[in-house]
Amino acid sequence: MKKETLMEFMFKEHSIIFKLLEDFEKDSDSEEKFNKLKEKQENHAFMEEKAIFIFYQKNKKYPEITVLLEQHEELRGLIKKIGNKENLKNNSLKLKKLMASHIKLEQEKFYPRLNKELEESEKQKMLEKARSYILGNIGFN
Ligand SMILES: [Fe+2]
Ligand SMILES: [Fe+2]
Repeated sequence: MKKETLMEFMFKEHSIIFKLLEDFEKDSDSEEKFNKLKEKQENHAFMEEKAIFIFYQKNKKYPEITVLLEQHEELRGLIKKIGNKENLKNNSLKLKKLMASHIKLEQEKFYPRLNKELEESEKQKMLEKARSYILGNIGFN
């Protein structure tokens, strides 16, 4: 069996997020659906920041990291507001739009570039780290 790559792992993560977002949209009164989306997005963003972005912050070579981090904060803010039922309809729509453009930036620009520019061993290390965060072994490295 072919080994999963870092890009494949991330794209799979993103499709899980889109699916949960879609479930929530269809049933926006459901606490359960909202909580599933919230939990997944929180874990995913945390993992990206700890396993991937930190590497680039050290190198200061990639300007889009700043944008991606700002978008993570904005997503956190929207999720918090939706959790408090603040302007539910409007904020849900904002969440959907921002999530789409955020994931687009990651999938079309950031991860392909990372895939092109990093050594195989670096990518492998990031993938292992990313997986360990997602599996809940926070702090493991
Ligand atoms: Fe992200
Ligand atoms: Fe992502």
